[in-house]
Amino acid sequence: MTNRKILVTSALPYANGDIHLGHLMEAIQTDIWVRFQRLRGHDCVYVCADDAHGTAIMLSAEAKQTTAETLIAETEERHKTDYDGFSISFDNFYSTHSDENKYLSETIYQALKQNGHIKKREIKQLFDPEKNLFLADRYVVGTCPKCHAEDQYGDNCEVCGSTYSPAELINSRSSISGSKPVLKNSEHFFFDLPQFKSMLQQWTRSGTLQDAVANKLAEWLDHDLKQWDISRDAPYFGFEIPNAPGKYFYVWLDAPIGYMASFKNFCSKRHYQFDEYWRPENSDSTELYHFIGKDIINFHTLFWPAMLHSAGYRTPTAVYAHGFLTVDGTKMSKSRGTFIKARDYLKHLDPEYLRYYLGAKLSSGIDDLDLNFEDFVFRINSDLVGKIANIASRCAGFITKNFNSMLSERLDNGALISELQSASCEIANYYEQREFNKAIRHIMSLADKVNQYINDKQPWTLAKSDPKSQNLHNILTTSLNAFRILIIYLKPVIPATAQKVEDFLSVRPLSWDDIDAVLLDKKINVFKPLIVRVEQKSIEALILQGKNSDTVIEDTASNSNSSTEEHEKGSEEQEIDITHFLKMDLRVAEIIDAKHVPEADKLLELKLSLGANERGETISRTVFSGIKSAYQPETLIGRLTVIVANLKPRKMKFGVSEGMVLAAGPGDKEIWLLKPDSGAKAGMRIT
Ligand code: MSP
Ligand code: ZN
Repeated sequence: MTNRKILVTSALPYANGDIHLGHLMEAIQTDIWVRFQRLRGHDCVYVCADDAHGTAIMLSAEAKQTTAETLIAETEERHKTDYDGFSISFDNFYSTHSDENKYLSETIYQALKQNGHIKKREIKQLFDPEKNLFLADRYVVGTCPKCHAEDQYGDNCEVCGSTYSPAELINSRSSISGSKPVLKNSEHFFFDLPQFKSMLQQWTRSGTLQDAVANKLAEWLDHDLKQWDISRDAPYFGFEIPNAPGKYFYVWLDAPIGYMASFKNFCSKRHYQFDEYWRPENSDSTELYHFIGKDIINFHTLFWPAMLHSAGYRTPTAVYAHGFLTVDGTKMSKSRGTFIKARDYLKHLDPEYLRYYLGAKLSSGIDDLDLNFEDFVFRINSDLVGKIANIASRCAGFITKNFNSMLSERLDNGALISELQSASCEIANYYEQREFNKAIRHIMSLADKVNQYINDKQPWTLAKSDPKSQNLHNILTTSLNAFRILIIYLKPVIPATAQKVEDFLSVRPLSWDDIDAVLLDKKINVFKPLIVRVEQKSIEALILQGKNSDTVIEDTASNSNSSTEEHEKGSEEQEIDITHFLKMDLRVAEIIDAKHVPEADKLLELKLSLGANERGETISRTVFSGIKSAYQPETLIGRLTVIVANLKPRKMKFGVSEGMVLAAGPGDKEIWLLKPDSGAKAGMRIT
């Protein structure tokens, strides 16, 4: 096996929000692959960074009344801690707001310019006269020019689906200041992507991409490519463009360069040569891989390789895209408590569970992956605890007590061990191909065989009848050797558990080559439980925490989740089908009482009437609703509203909420109860 030199990256998370399970899925996928390469003896460097620039971060700092620099520094610390909690083995985690990145962005830009790949032209753009800020599409709200639906964002209507220029919106306003935007001219810099058409047609077809991705891009590349706008006007948090005062690099220009910058920073601390990994003449001796989500494919497979090519750098060996993580079948959602942050997960559950669960489901494709908590509990308890840890826990005690912690000099069943060893090629191929689900399925089928062997031999029976027998000793030794091989196979996925096993077996860090060895006549340590069963109540606590950390309204009122930041990614809004919709029981309700909840910042406690039942008794409901910022409770009494009447009652800190009141608006004072027409009566169904 020759020693490969590999550089790997995960996409850079935005520096204005916490790491959530979606980010973790990507980091865990990358980390499993990286750890596998290292386990095989390859030199594999893994770098990442925070993506620190852009309007969203600038505004977010402003809203928190701090500077962008302070915000990104604080976020970087949080991100490092979060990833560390899940054993993500970065060699370097840096920031795009760094000297290295500034230098590389400027020099790459100069090269593009020198090569005639930068064009300038005036564009007209909406401008917020109050904030003195050009408005990206998603910061403009107004009424759809086609169907007159209100409160539509940017350049397409969610109601009728038509697209238009944000300037065509009726009664448009800036979602930042609320003021009326005006059209204003500005000179922008463009990267001349069309010049790279044939280069990209070739590159995207050269085995660098998954088939599904290459096919999608082929469709695009058949049509005309557009020039890419790479400049933004001040005020902007980013790098100013050389010799262009007041013009800044668009965040997506310097973001991928952040991969290089992080590696360059790593080189300054360790003995690695930057050029060895980034110059085209070395692209046969070193490998470069980017792991990304499917929402950012274009940036990594069109703009990025074209820029690298123009600037005289190598292009990536491959770009590996993955799908999105959903939780219990739907997009992560704050109101369902499934928008789960890394740090909240760690308060309730072992990170190895998530690594294992995702490992068992990840493939090389770009399909979405669902974290189903029922399945999660089942898989962890049945596989990790029931099949893997159980092997050691059933055998270790006897070795300690009956054999003075010594392994025997001989195996009882060499064939079983050979069978496990001979699976190594197949499993390695699965890992290499990122078919982790297949690797794990294979490993678990081997674990089944080992457990079958132990069941057949019943060491616990022998331990009673003949506690010091050679036979028993050999059986236990065979089982623990099998266990050791299974742990090597699983080591990329559950590194912390593997380390506990290394301590237990009293061996050096296990590597792939160790599969071929057998441990005999060796003293081992006392076994300590490796991994405990998942408790349903830990999951409930985690979900409850997700729900209570924000009120229901927050879903629409804030859009601080990072996957909605700095867009132009092509939004992947999840749709529900009509059957989901029909399941909702929407009713008119009368607010018969409303009061403050003393300890809650956002909630009002509402008592609602849903009309009378057959016996003439009022059907009433208590609902906690996050509308305190917009309504004085007294003013609500007697009003009609619309509620989701068949929502599962939810235990909140202050009581049980039996439904949900529909409201809309950007938040704070601007939240409006959805009010039925006059003539409506409490209890009416909405059809
Ligand atoms: N900052 C850009 C990436 C720049 S790379 C030069 C960005 N940041 S992000 O924070 O929005 O997303 C970072 C990565 O996390 C992306 O690859 C994105 O696809 C991934 N994910 C974010 N939410 C996700 C899920 N729910 N599921 C899986 N991955 C998702 O984009
Ligand atoms: Zn419309």
